Amino acid sequence: MNQCDWINELNTDGYTYVSPNHWDERLSVLRSLILEGAGCEESVSLEEIHHHISPQDINTKRLKVISTINSDQAKLDWLLEPLAPFITKLIGPDCVRQKRVNLVMHLPQDETSIIPNHSDVLTGNSSFEVTCWIPLTKCHIENTMHLFPYKKGEKAYLMPKENEVVLFKHFLKHGNSLNTTNAARVSLNIRFKSLFSPENKKSLLDYFQIWKMSEFTRIGLNEWKNED
Ligand SMILES: [Fe+2]
Repeated sequence: MNQCDWINELNTDGYTYVSPNHWDERLSVLRSLILEGAGCEESVSLEEIHHHISPQDINTKRLKVISTINSDQAKLDWLLEPLAPFITKLIGPDCVRQKRVNLVMHLPQDETSIIPNHSDVLTGNSSFEVTCWIPLTKCHIENTMHLFPYKKGEKAYLMPKENEVVLFKHFLKHGNSLNTTNAARVSLNIRFKSLFSPENKKSLLDYFQIWKMSEFTRIGLNEWKNED
């Protein structure tokens, strides 16, 4: 898909798929961090992680994994770097990113993993943000996230190919249903917005941090700081 196609698709449907460069290398580091955070052997497949985590431990393990992934912000920036050409093309050169990446472990037959349909705009994110949804396991219709595209309105299931990530807009309603497969679905999500776009309830300084900045803006901010 060329650059214009994915941007058109995002603007028309509210979501699209992109293939970042060097993404397989990043995925393997992310998978290792998740296993490390969950206290699992390196050889465990993420699809099988539910055999290594009891349902009552899932929330504690989930928090540990999130903390492991977010503990080294320089490493996280390196992990996210292949997304930069897409995000800056979409929202401009001055970008903030969500400070902490979120994790979803959607375990087979686990009712507590169900996320009801919602729009992130209604939970405090602004419609100027874009979410990057990063699958770490193969997605099946029965265990993936669904959303309701602008154009068609009916439910669509996210089915990215290997090494693809999903970009979607915050206004779209999304959620998931009971995972009726035997495989866990593990995915990450992180939000980006322009440094100069309006906020909703998630404030710029608490929820985000500067990710990319043009030299022009950097100089401008320094001059602005020294104006008085
Ligand atoms: Fe959401």
